Amino acid sequence: MASQSFLLAILALTVAHAIASDPSQLQDFCVAEKMPQVLVNGFACKDPKAVVAEDFFFSGLHMAGNTSNKQGSAVTAVNVAQIAGLNTMGISLARIDYAPYGLNPPHIHPRGTEILTVLEGCLYVGFVTSNPENKLFSKVLNKGDVFVFPQGLIHFQFNYGTNKAVALAALSSQNPGVITVANAVFGSEPSISDDVLAKAFQVDKNTIDRIQAQF
Ligand SMILES: *[C@@H]1O[C@H](CO)[C@@H](O)[C@H](O)[C@H]1NC(C)=O
Repeated sequence: MASQSFLLAILALTVAHAIASDPSQLQDFCVAEKMPQVLVNGFACKDPKAVVAEDFFFSGLHMAGNTSNKQGSAVTAVNVAQIAGLNTMGISLARIDYAPYGLNPPHIHPRGTEILTVLEGCLYVGFVTSNPENKLFSKVLNKGDVFVFPQGLIHFQFNYGTNKAVALAALSSQNPGVITVANAVFGSEPSISDDVLAKAFQVDKNTIDRIQAQF
């Protein structure tokens, strides 16, 4: 019995760890004091007496991002880098603009779950679960529709329409991070050996070299 409850306790700890997001704050706020000589998980706190409303403020999300790029999309992030007051709060925001047929390419947020609302246009979105299932959950979203991309899973949004599209995404981290799959795999610096990628993707090296040349 004792060993059984010990196992349960271990299991409970494991589960608690697995669903943990950013650590919860131990004070009302901890406005980021970006002192390069102080290294903590997040940022050190600014003196609360010196904190002002501007530390919790950002302006400019009404402006569309520049989608004149190969993917036809632009992400305007509003995280702890833009709002120092988000330090330790476990939350952030992003505006995403899509040109007609624009794509926010397959990517991962290693530290946050995302909840996305379509403000304008029509998006085909999806995410893929981890091994071994690798199941795709996808949906076509219209204005006002909301979709969730669970933490750490590969996901994308594609503008199906001939009009531009706009979405607003909230993320459960002050600094969710982004790993764009194609850039990380084919555009790393220095590049991953084409021996490795040819074997991983089961194609010849010329195909890998051609893809790497795009990044
Ligand atoms: C948008 O980006 C393109 C490509 O980088 C650039 O040529 C263009 O001037 C930018 N447009 C604006 C309005 O900044």
